Amino acid sequence: PYPHLAPTPPMGWNNWSYYTCGISEQVVLDNARALVRTGLAAKGYDTVTVDDCWMSRQRGPKGELVADPAKFPHGMAYVGQQLHRMGLKFGIYEDVGTLTCEKYPGSLGRFPQDAQLFAQWKVDYVKADGCNVPTVPGHSKEQTYRDLYGQMSDALRATGRPMTFSVSAPAYFQFDGAAVWHRVIGWSSELGNLWRSGRDVALQKSSPDTKWSSIVYNFRYNAELADLQRPGRWNDPDLLLAGDSGLTRQEMQSQMSLWAVMAAPLISSTDLGKLSPAARAVLGNEEVIAVDQDPLGVQGHIVQQGTDFAVLSRPLKNGDHAIALFNSGGTARTLSVTAGAAGLPKSSSYLLHDLVTGHRAHSDGDIAAPKVPAHGTVLYRVTPS
Ligand code: DGJ
Repeated sequence: PYPHLAPTPPMGWNNWSYYTCGISEQVVLDNARALVRTGLAAKGYDTVTVDDCWMSRQRGPKGELVADPAKFPHGMAYVGQQLHRMGLKFGIYEDVGTLTCEKYPGSLGRFPQDAQLFAQWKVDYVKADGCNVPTVPGHSKEQTYRDLYGQMSDALRATGRPMTFSVSAPAYFQFDGAAVWHRVIGWSSELGNLWRSGRDVALQKSSPDTKWSSIVYNFRYNAELADLQRPGRWNDPDLLLAGDSGLTRQEMQSQMSLWAVMAAPLISSTDLGKLSPAARAVLGNEEVIAVDQDPLGVQGHIVQQGTDFAVLSRPLKNGDHAIALFNSGGTARTLSVTAGAAGLPKSSSYLLHDLVTGHRAHSDGDIAAPKVPAHGTVLYRVTPS
């Protein structure tokens, strides 16, 4: 398998959902500085990834990838240098097909050359998209993707530079049925450290309703994949939308808490320069981050669900469990699960620590969250006492 470079789920920032192709050196470095200034970097959000559209339309004279000189006047090595100076890591985007989704040069046919260049630029994290993968006669779509991602994975490894590898392949099989995507996740987890599940979360220009349904869709999709995750190999249900996305505080908090209980990468996509106090509190909650980053590295499972609610339970290293009670419906409701159903060890009493309000309570067996607001999630850390 690919080197074990992400013992806990990657954290950081990516421009895509908020800025799409509207990126530049300034946008990237301003957001990097904001990561440091807000304290989010110190809390673990350390990888800044430049997504699609950073390149020129044409490769250079030696066939090398070239940064768009209008967007990145000092080149990409400079961006990496600046990020490293701030104590951050440098992430970059490519595609295993002939072209990226936005039709910039893809890596197909040039995997070693591109990987060498990324290593030379001191890249720490590579996201490899799967647009414009050609049909190869005699090969199934799955064989072709597997082969191309394999070539990219080998090329990155061969550079000798540790670069965390984010594989987008499963996202390109999400309509091909569960048996297929399970297989695709199987080989993706050998080739990289994390892989995209479900769809893209909605872009900044879409309505708050669309954003919220994209979060719920990816939550449901990703929660079903818990058995395919292993410590150091992560399902990635896409970017965190906390920010000026039009989501309510409950909705931002739900995404954060659900992603944490699912051991998902925590990658923000917003303008961090104008983070509201609410969004900052959501992204910066250290107790919730600690659940996400728990060293046991096990994704939580659904232990109970209905049409408009779900309860997930995640075992933690110190013997505690994180329990998320998610009300996806439109009205407040009380949610609860028995300690047994949540997989907790037998005990005469449990301490429930609400990681958002800080409230602590004792229970003799029922893990209950009274009146969870519409679209809200209560996240408890539960200690048998
Ligand atoms: C599709 C990916 O899923 C997105 O995350 C983003 O990278 C875009 N492509 C960029 O074109």
